[in-house]
Order: sequence, then C-alpha cells, then structure tokens
Amino acid sequence: MSHKIPATQRKILVTSALPYANGSIHLGHLVEYIQTDIWVRFQKMQGNSCIYCCADDTHGTPIMLHAEKEGITPEQLIDRVWHEHKRDFDGFHVAFDNYYSTNSPETRHYADTIYTRLRDAGLIEKRAIEQFYDPVKQMFLPDRFIKGECPKCHAKDQYGDSCEVCGATYQPTELIEPYSAVSGAMPVRKESDHYFFKLSDPRCADFLKSWIVPPHVPAAAGNKLNGWLGSGLSDWDISRVAPYFGFEIPDAPGKYYYVWLDAPIGYMGSFQNYCDKHGLNFDDYWKPDSDAELYHFIGKDILYFHALFWPAELRHAGFRTPSGVFCHGFLTVNGSKMSKSRGTFITAESYLRHLNPEWLRYYYAAKLNGSMEDIDLNLEDFSARVNADLVGKYVNIASRSAGFITKRFSGKLDSLSRYAPWLEKDYRFFDDQGNLAWDFPGMIESGGDRTQVEAPMLRFFQHHSNIIAPLIEGREYSKALREIMFLADIANRYVNATKPWEIAKQEGRETDLHEICTVTLNLFRLLTIYLKPILPIVAESVEAFLNLAPLQWIDANTLISGHTINEYQHLMTRVDPKKIEAMVDENKQTLEPTPAPAPARHAEHQQHVAQSDEAKAPEQNYIAIDDFAKVDLRIARIVTASHVEGADKLIRLELDIGEAKPRQVFAGIKSAYDPATLVGRLTVMVANLAPRKMKFGMSEGMVLAASGDTPGLFILSPDAGAQPGMRVK
Ligand code: MSP
Ligand code: ZN
Repeated sequence: MSHKIPATQRKILVTSALPYANGSIHLGHLVEYIQTDIWVRFQKMQGNSCIYCCADDTHGTPIMLHAEKEGITPEQLIDRVWHEHKRDFDGFHVAFDNYYSTNSPETRHYADTIYTRLRDAGLIEKRAIEQFYDPVKQMFLPDRFIKGECPKCHAKDQYGDSCEVCGATYQPTELIEPYSAVSGAMPVRKESDHYFFKLSDPRCADFLKSWIVPPHVPAAAGNKLNGWLGSGLSDWDISRVAPYFGFEIPDAPGKYYYVWLDAPIGYMGSFQNYCDKHGLNFDDYWKPDSDAELYHFIGKDILYFHALFWPAELRHAGFRTPSGVFCHGFLTVNGSKMSKSRGTFITAESYLRHLNPEWLRYYYAAKLNGSMEDIDLNLEDFSARVNADLVGKYVNIASRSAGFITKRFSGKLDSLSRYAPWLEKDYRFFDDQGNLAWDFPGMIESGGDRTQVEAPMLRFFQHHSNIIAPLIEGREYSKALREIMFLADIANRYVNATKPWEIAKQEGRETDLHEICTVTLNLFRLLTIYLKPILPIVAESVEAFLNLAPLQWIDANTLISGHTINEYQHLMTRVDPKKIEAMVDENKQTLEPTPAPAPARHAEHQQHVAQSDEAKAPEQNYIAIDDFAKVDLRIARIVTASHVEGADKLIRLELDIGEAKPRQVFAGIKSAYDPATLVGRLTVMVANLAPRKMKFGMSEGMVLAASGDTPGLFILSPDAGAQPGMRVK
C-alpha cells in the first residue's frame, strides 16, 4: 500500500507520550490520549494526512525489577503490559495508526544514530561519577530505590529524592541511615563511568534560546523554560550501568542508554515501523527541511525533556525539530489528586467495566483547552453534564423527529426543494458589534413563518464549521463544545416551537411534518459532524441511521434531502450514578494488600461474565456473530485442582478438553471453592485465550464464572451428556 498525498493536504505526524510499561493506564493518562485522539480524528476529517504514533516506554530499572519480582523476564512483562495498554486504548477508541514498543530494532537504530552523531559532533562526554551502589544486589541504585531518614524532619523510610512527609527535596547522599529499597542493604558509594550529553555546550544553549518560543512551546511555558535555560543547563547523564534493561551503548560495553534517552526516540521507532508497513519514507518527515508537521502531546511533568533535551538532541544529530510541543495539565478527581484510598485512582479497565468511554471523551473535551491548567473530573458534574448535554440536548434531537420519517414517509427525507432559493442566499448572521442578528427559534415561537427561519438557520449551522474548526485545531475543545451546545439548544427550541408531534395529528399537514423533520435531521447531522472527533462511535451509528458515508468536515457544506434513512436506534443512554459508585468502590479495593476476588483484576487471569455485560448500555454491547465466533469455548473436565502456594485467590486447575495433555489454568475462585470438590466435574473454558506466563506457571485458558453485587462466585456446568472438548456456541 503506498501513500499519495495531494499537494493541498497537510502532512502531519502526531505523538502522545509513551506510557511506561510498568503500570496500568488510568484516567489521568487518558486526558492526554483522548485529547490527542480528538485532534487526530479532526485532522483526518479535514482531509489532512495525519499519522498518530505511540508506543510503550519499556526500559529502565523499575521495569527490570518489577519483572524480576514476578519471576518473568522484562520482555515477558512488557509484552503482557503492551496488550493491556492496547486493550485499554482500544476501549476508549484512541485510534493510533501505530502502537509500538521502544524495545524495538527501529528504536535501537535511531538511538544509536543519534548517540553516534552527537558523539561525533563532540557533544558526548565520558566522566566518572560516584553513586550509591547496592553491594548485595550488585547494582547502582536510582534515587527512587534508596530510602532512609529525611535529613529535615527525620521521618523514616523516605525516598532518596524527596520526603513525602515534609516535602523537602535533597540528594540521596543526604539521607540519614540510607538503605537499598531493593535488598535492604546499606548502600556504598562507588565510582563508574557515565556518558553525558553536553547541554552546557554553547551550541545547545544558543539553539534552545531561539527555539523555545511559540509555536514550538506554549507561551505559558516560556517563563519556566527560560528560567531553566537562564540558570544554565547542566550536562545530562544519558547512561546507566549494567544490570539495566535497555539498549547497550555500542562503544561502551556494560553501559546502557538511560530510559529517557531512548523514550522520545521511540516516537521515531514507532514511525519507522509504520513507514515500513505503509511504504512511506521516514526521512520525508524527519529531515531538517521536511515539509511535514510534527507535534508531541505531553503532560506538563515531562516538558523539560520535550522542550529542551529532545529538540537539542534532534538539532545536533541532523534531524528536524518538532513543529510544536502541546502540553496539558494534570487530572484531579473531585478536586484532589487521584487517590487510591478514596478510590479516585481509576484505571481505564475499571472505568470501561462500568461506564461508556464516550462519556469520558465528551467530559474531557468539555474541560480541555490549549493551556497547561489542571483539569478536574468531578464525578457528579460528569453525570449531570453528560446527561444534560449528550442525552438531553443532542441525542434527543434525532429521537424526536426520526420516527415520523420512518412511520409516515417510509423513511424518505423531504426533497427540501421549496428551500432552494433561500439556501442560495448570503446571510449576515452577526451585526457590526458581533452580536447574533438572528433569533431563529424565537421568530417561530412568536408566531412567525417558519420557512423564513429554517433556511438561514440551516446555513447558520453550516457556517459553524468555520467557527468550530479553528477551535479544535487550537485544542480549545471546551470552546468548541460551547458552540456546538449553543447550536443544540437552537435545534431543540426549533423542535419545541414547530411541535411536529402535534402537526402529525393534524390532517393535511404532511408537507409541514415532512419538512420540519427533515430540517431537524439536517441540524442533527451537522451537529454530528462537529461532534464526530469526540464521539466517533456515536457518529458511526448516526451515519448508519442516516444512511450516510463516513462524515468528513467538508460535508458540513451540504445538506441531506430526498434519500431514505434507516430506523432510529437509541444512540446513548444516561449515566447511572450507581455505576459510578460501583467503579469508585472497585478502585478502593485495589488498595487492599490482597485484592478481593471479584470483580476480577486482569492480573489474576480471570474474568467474570455477568458483571461486565450489564455494566454498559445494551446498545453499546452489540457484537457481530463473527466476533463471538472468535471465542473458542469448550466443555472441560477438571482433572486436578489444587491450591497455589503464595497465591491467596488462585486455584490451579488441569482441564481436559480432549487434547493430548490437559491445560493448566489458574482461576481466581479460591474464595468460593474447595479444590477437592472441583475434581471430576465439567465446566466451560475459553480455549483460545493467549497463554500467559504467571508467577506460578503458564495459564493456558480461562474458566468462566458468574458473579454479581451480592457475594459469591459460580463456575458454570453443562447439562448431562456434554463431553470434554465439545465446542460451546
Ligand atoms: N514514559 C514517560 C513518557 C515518555 S515520552 C517519550 C511517561 N510515562 S507516564 O506513563 O508516566 O505518562 C504518560 C503521559 O501521561 C505523560 O504525558 C503524562 O504527563 C501523562 N499523565 C500521567 N498522569 C497524568 C495525570 N494524572 N493527568 C494528566 N496527564 C497525566 O511520563
Ligand atoms: Zn521530611
């Protein structure tokens, strides 16, 4: 497949920060990925070429130690997390064009390229430094892995870089009675060679001074960045000493690139991987005089890396620099930092188990602007807003008019031919002061002739494509939504004023009814175009219902008339506050030292069927029969069942499904079953789930169990006669 980009199209490459392969995606992360995805979808709707690349950030000491703790290799850990992250992003409809991994040959290649070029430019320097070393574990310790007594307030067990009790920051060497968080041993100081990127070189400072200005970086970040620059940039230590999970530096055996060196290079790695799959030329996008645009969406915590280190690296290694670094603020929930004890540290997975992802996309969009201010997810406001705006205002417009078209006009829209002369005219919507010069529904409300109002109103809705587009382009999503909801209010008032449900009962008013419903559906279609980057799935349903090709931005220039539409299907349900409560409760549970068995966390390789199904509105739940057919369900005989040492939730099962060797499955059903009672009985298993390495061995499938709001966990049994290996469908 090769790409031909028409000359008028912009060529855009977009990234979001690469999430660490060390933990789950949570609602804080999603601020960024949803923000980016909306922007990318908008660009695509505009007809631009826009490629959205991302990847897991897989290297570093925490990931190495985490894998070790689980008894698996780092590669196994990052592979598992990659799938979890991908599942979560898919769940929120974050549509990457490529989701890759920094632990890839492409990223290694560009890391080596950049390192070598910087070295050849005289910008890499080797220097011996002294650091804390764990003599038992035989490794150098990152600050976060050294603990001890705070030198200021004498609180015990504080991290090597800052005190969580008094907030002081300090050097690890200042800790009183330091110890290694890995082995508990007393760290010793040890010298080793490190490689530094010479940011103190005047070439870097001079370049950055001219570079850190809008539009490369947000104006609001200017002060901070200039402050950093003004106080003089120190050289940056880009190496770590083995053992380390990462890429070994070619000319320095035993030394590895620090994770933050190869992480942004992972953007290039992911893009190269995309190029290879789609026949695109990498250099077209990354050469210094490239005509492509490059944008990085990031959070304010990593601005330093993206606005200083990264452009300096690129510049001096012969690559282009970013067109813009788009920096957003942090998420708070109910006004405070996300908190595990309050249940507001909400994972993506758990949100999806209870709530509709498009609700969050909408809510975040309603809060987001182009600034670095924090945004708050207030859970009460969340349901109020979604219910009022999306269900009450937007969806409502279609549900009130579509039925008449179906029932009274066999699904066919009016031709709108009577409107033709009026639609041609040029309208001035705003007076010299910029005030809206029209009161569309008001003119009907006060008894005016609707035909004088409808054509300009339609044109006014169309005209808004030019108002909304620059707002989305500038990441002013909240302003864009204010415009869209302003239009939705007009549409609702129009319906209220024309009262199609009354006209439907009056004899001889077919034409009126037909026109009003057709006008209304046109208003609804235009709103759908504007909402599509935010609500891609709802928009898809609307396209199906209105019988339209995928809507593009330019479609706002046209109206629909005369064609046949499909029957209206309910588009979105209201938020049920009980579901929010359940989600918050569930996230509280994850804090307990041993998580409660139900609802399942994926970490234990089990899932419950009942819970997740009822959690979402039914229309969100439809899958095609083909989707269901992908799940290979089999009757299984439990051959053995035993406790697993060190696991307080799991039972180890061996399941006969008619294969040469029974399958081993770890099932999180210990709270409900005594292993002895399970042996010999039949149940149902998913046989084609990818095998997964667990601390206790491979898990080669999953048994199904039901659970609900009341206690208890129930595995399934087939009726008499079923045999091991039989397919369930
Ligand atoms: N791995 C680095 C990024 C490397 S990019 C070359 C990293 N990962 S992260 O998983 O911690 O964060 C990924 C992104 O999510 C960052 O841009 C970060 O700012 C953002 N967020 C993480 N928590 C967040 C909130 N609570 N609120 C908003 N954004 C948040 O940093
Ligand atoms: Zn302290």
